[in-house]
Amino acid sequence: MDIVDYYNWRYATKKFNPKKRIASSDLELIKEAVRLAPSSYGLQLFKVLIIEDTSLKEKLLKASFNQHQVVDCSHLFVFCNYTKVFENDIDLYINTKSKVNKHPLNELQGYGSFLKNNLLKKETTETSIWTTNQVYIALAHLMTACATLQIDSCPIEGFDTDKYNTILNLKERHMNTAVIAAVGYRSNEDLTQNQKKVRKASNVLFETI
Ligand SMILES: Cc1cc2nc3c(=O)[nH]c(=O)nc-3n(C[C@H](O)[C@H](O)[C@H](O)COP(=O)(O)O)c2cc1C
Repeated sequence: MDIVDYYNWRYATKKFNPKKRIASSDLELIKEAVRLAPSSYGLQLFKVLIIEDTSLKEKLLKASFNQHQVVDCSHLFVFCNYTKVFENDIDLYINTKSKVNKHPLNELQGYGSFLKNNLLKKETTETSIWTTNQVYIALAHLMTACATLQIDSCPIEGFDTDKYNTILNLKERHMNTAVIAAVGYRSNEDLTQNQKKVRKASNVLFETI
């Protein structure tokens, strides 16, 4: 299969087979795809909660307008964007960059100060919009990685954000549920898998200027 075949194979799965679990080796590959996703300044100002626990999934089902993918999937990925940037977030990046690239820390401090001056003073709303945008890039990486492994996924925005934040205790951690992805294997009964893709024609979507 080439890349377009994978994109055609993937669809927003409506009904998962609740009995089929993702192998831990595949789970690690999916996590790696998310980890390697690009982010603004490389700061990765988000966390991804991976939920397997059935009782927790059941709680989230009610906060997801009863979309059953949330419980029937093998793993539920909850993408949480940071609502505030802290000095520690930038120090972590600078220290990691120094270690990974064997770059003297003192030569990176100027860049660290530049980031701190720009980012620490941002309002919650501005920060949240900015960090949420980056979460969606990570989500796209997850969906493509899954497709290449013949693993199904469903991106989901249809949930009550406040309820998710409360159930998962995110507020006190300065985090917010941006989007979620149910990941697992399609049920044979999911009729959506037989439907053709509905997309704009290329000449409508693209304009060469
Ligand atoms: C950000 C985002 C949020 C979505 N939210 C939901 C959702 O809450 N429930 C659902 O069943 N599908 C959801 N979808 C799936 C879309 O409806 C689906 O991707 C679109 O109709 C195109 O179909 P395809 O992905 O099967 O090709 C969402 C997709 C995206 C990208």
